[in-house]
Amino acid sequence: MDQTEERYPFHKAFHIEGGNFIHAGSISSQVKRILKEEGFPKNVIRRMSIATFEAEMNVICYARWGILTLVVFPDFIKVAVDDEGAGIHDVNQAMREGFSTATEKIRELGFGAGMGLSNIKKVTDEMVLTSVVNQGTHLEFMVNVKDGAEK
Ligand SMILES: Nc1ncnc2c1ncn2[C@@H]1O[C@H](COP(=O)(O)OP(=O)(O)O)[C@@H](O)[C@H]1O
Ligand SMILES: [Mg+2]
Repeated sequence: MDQTEERYPFHKAFHIEGGNFIHAGSISSQVKRILKEEGFPKNVIRRMSIATFEAEMNVICYARWGILTLVVFPDFIKVAVDDEGAGIHDVNQAMREGFSTATEKIRELGFGAGMGLSNIKKVTDEMVLTSVVNQGTHLEFMVNVKDGAEK
């Protein structure tokens, strides 16, 4: 069997702790490093890093905990984030640029501009967001490798 075929799909799961701002960004950094090691195009890595960072921050800011799963195929990269927390009562409203329920504390830390979800949508090729109030939120997105330079 061809060696490249054996390596994929590559799976890795990361635990995200809600409210832990000290390690904010550490999972997206790890994802970025993995994608660099895999030799993906710069722009694909940039787009995945932006989306993963925003997804990680949302769990830290708004959920109790979450699991981020990275799945790497030769042609596309997918991230799924499942969290347990307050959930989102209106997903369309949450997607709107500038909408945020960030607390004063979150804003003081430099987050809460309300651009995270809309940015994820912008930089990825597919995005799905679903949520159950008082249970949690499911977010997934993917970036195609071949046309990665186009976004
Ligand atoms: N994982 C999540 N759990 C609960 N609420 C969320 C989650 N992700 C996003 N939200 C809600 O959607 C809003 C918009 O998110 P986003 O666009 O990332 O902006 P910001 O994080 O700056 O507020 C948040 O303020 C929050 O109310
Ligand atoms: Mg956000």
